[in-house]
Amino acid sequence: MPLIDHTDPRIAVRQGAVLLCNRWNEPIKAAIIAGSGFSSIIEVGKVIDRIPYSLLPGLPQSTISGHGSELLLASTPYGLTIIFTGRSHAYEGHKPSACASHAALALEVGVQNLIMTNACGGLHPRLNVGDVVIPTDVMNMTFRALRSPARNHSEVVDRGWALRSTSQCWVDGIPARNGTLVQVLGPSFETRAEIGMMRRCGADVIGMSTVVESAWASGAGARVSVLSLVTNTLTDTHQQSVTHLQVMDTASTSGKRVSQALLSILQSIQESHSAP
Ligand code: HPA
Repeated sequence: MPLIDHTDPRIAVRQGAVLLCNRWNEPIKAAIIAGSGFSSIIEVGKVIDRIPYSLLPGLPQSTISGHGSELLLASTPYGLTIIFTGRSHAYEGHKPSACASHAALALEVGVQNLIMTNACGGLHPRLNVGDVVIPTDVMNMTFRALRSPARNHSEVVDRGWALRSTSQCWVDGIPARNGTLVQVLGPSFETRAEIGMMRRCGADVIGMSTVVESAWASGAGARVSVLSLVTNTLTDTHQQSVTHLQVMDTASTSGKRVSQALLSILQSIQESHSAP
């Protein structure tokens, strides 16, 4: 696989976007992309439509347990929101452009506000299992990239939106934190040496998705916010084992907090904030 993928993911999803635009004729406020274990827990509103990925060309079927293969349209107090119940990962063998297909479809139907969710390991010593982190910056340590439509683009997550969302979470009773998210390729969890390296590099949370596709989406004009749920903590001082099952267990017991934090993020969208 080439290290830089030059495919524009918007092309493969265009037919599906036409289908959705013909089916829905109201403006959509945001799209949420669900991470591992999140597919059944996101309850941000009333589901008013559901479409299997198999009807949407260009969206890969999710093959990892804890990921759905359905797109939902939900009516939330802050507007209509698309929920992608599962995503694709590079460690499943997908190219970066396939991992970005959900973001690309959202952009093609005119949705600019993207919320990526993911399960992550907590590297910062003050983080605990079940904590919500809204990253204000990201690092790509996958050594893969998707060619961005904007060449000189370096802000991947919308920092202003992240900070407003964090304040809103506290107002709503969710103690959210900020920090830096690093994406690695996976699928193995990190060794003690890797944990120490990531920490020294300045990462606070670590996951196997989100950064590559967010970098492309923000370069394509999306405003991106990320919600990372700490499903396990990591330290380089003693041996510990992390399993995918443990990650999904924590995600499913944190459903209420994740949904509430997503509502706080939706509430913090400011349509004009990136205007010149
Ligand atoms: N490392 C990488 N990805 C993860 C982890 C982790 O510890 N937990 C959940 N996703």
